[in-house]
Amino acid sequence: MVKKENKIEEIARRRGIFWTSSDIYGGVSGMYDYGHIGTLIKRKWENTWRKYFLGLNGNFFEIDCRNMMPDKVFKASGHVDSFVDPITKCRKCGGIERADHLVESILEGNFEGLSPGELTKLIREHRIKCPKCGGEMEEVGILNMMFPVMIGSSLGYLRPETAQGAYVSFPREFEVSRKRLPLGLAILGRAYRNEISPRNLLIRMREFDQAELQIFFNPDMINDHESFNEISLYNLRILSVDSRKSGIVHEISCKDVSVKLPKFYVYYMAMIQKFYLDVLGLPPEKFRFRELSDEEKAFYNKYHWDIELDIESMDGFREVGGIHYRTDHDLAGHQKVSGRDMDIFHDGKKFIPHVLELSFGIDRNVYAVLDMGFVEEMVGQEERTTLRLPRALSPFDCAVLPLVKRDGMDAKALEIRKTLTAAGMDVFYDDSGSIGRRYRRMDEIGVAACITVDSDTIASGTVTLRDRDTMKQVLIKDRDLAGKMRLYISGEPAESLGNAVIVKPEKNPDMNSGFTYSAQGK
Ligand code: GAP
Repeated sequence: MVKKENKIEEIARRRGIFWTSSDIYGGVSGMYDYGHIGTLIKRKWENTWRKYFLGLNGNFFEIDCRNMMPDKVFKASGHVDSFVDPITKCRKCGGIERADHLVESILEGNFEGLSPGELTKLIREHRIKCPKCGGEMEEVGILNMMFPVMIGSSLGYLRPETAQGAYVSFPREFEVSRKRLPLGLAILGRAYRNEISPRNLLIRMREFDQAELQIFFNPDMINDHESFNEISLYNLRILSVDSRKSGIVHEISCKDVSVKLPKFYVYYMAMIQKFYLDVLGLPPEKFRFRELSDEEKAFYNKYHWDIELDIESMDGFREVGGIHYRTDHDLAGHQKVSGRDMDIFHDGKKFIPHVLELSFGIDRNVYAVLDMGFVEEMVGQEERTTLRLPRALSPFDCAVLPLVKRDGMDAKALEIRKTLTAAGMDVFYDDSGSIGRRYRRMDEIGVAACITVDSDTIASGTVTLRDRDTMKQVLIKDRDLAGKMRLYISGEPAESLGNAVIVKPEKNPDMNSGFTYSAQGK
């Protein structure tokens, strides 16, 4: 049986979503390029993220910093000394493996955060050999994951996280934004890590994208948030260190979680969960926060919970982001190395602001929605493959399809395309091939609605809107289409937008073979 991961990879390549970078030269491990459909989906995710997270506070802004930074930045941040992976080399073939992953491939559990000595012990005790040739592995050592670059004649690094750009920009941005706290600085852009064993398609790459929001705040206010009361009874889905063995996700109110974690932190956990469940409309059981143990936490974090999504083709829950309380680790580090005073005067006090970081891997999030939306079902005798993406992430808001390319239908369809585009929608136009085949093509790239122009459109000014997931069709007056499409994108079911069309059933979809996004999911 073909694995789901391979099916997604195949459809991604065939439909212009993503593929191995430089593939005409054999590809580069850990690097993927997005085709035009993938780029549209990725941009939609980014723009949805931007609108939501920057909308949380009038003092949150996006900035755009460079990918290369001088080595001093990363000495100050601790990455030169601490951003390392444990590695082990095969004595026979010389192949290098990431030691914790090698152990994980043989033994049950997560071995991230173990020291080189502990990993060497496990490898010896369990006689773990080279996965390529069966040879013996050397003692575990460490390797820095950053890519060094020469900037002119000076050493620099490709940034391993977008965050540092926000920290070095903080003094200026604080001045520009009239010295108000909390101040949020978001960066969406590339990050680079020389992963020893990149794998799992977009999940572990060497060059990837992050969306990170750094919230600078007064540490005296960490046990408070002005809007905490609004979410106090909202339940968070959490897997604490204590319940890891059972794997049971508990639903606990923000009020109760705040007994253990500061309210400022818990407030943003709620906002993150709402982004996934209410804005993207993912099923709640696909989402959880996972607490990291002291050994697993990143070196800069005091509190560190991962954001996880259940990605079936990756064997279950995987980290797609994190909520990090980085204290003044970074600003204090930059103060020390650069000599620039990072203290501010605020509320009559002098202090270095603390940072709460909301960090998201864009590619992992894109992959997760591709995985969750991927549905194969039998429709009559035929197999139908659909990407049930949230409507807000659909590469096109709709496709406009003339039933045939004559009798004025193609001209009318082009006119409708123009009207919808002028109304701000992303519209795909296709007039080639049978209508059934065109529907299938749109289903496979996740376009939520197909607008069909037929002889009735010419005679009486009505078009049909076909819903990707249910394949139901409704009749809509072409002059109302832009408004109705807007409602549709915002999550309205197709049935509420017009009268049902009694068509020869396109076939009977097996609605149980996947899941549908909630009505709120756009
Ligand atoms: N600024 C904090 C930071 O970078 P991280 O946990 O190292 O924290 C944040 O990375 C997110 O970036 C992860 O949750 C993940 O979604 C994404 N990410 C990290 N390494 C990645 C890789 N090699 N390939 C793809 N995404 C990655």
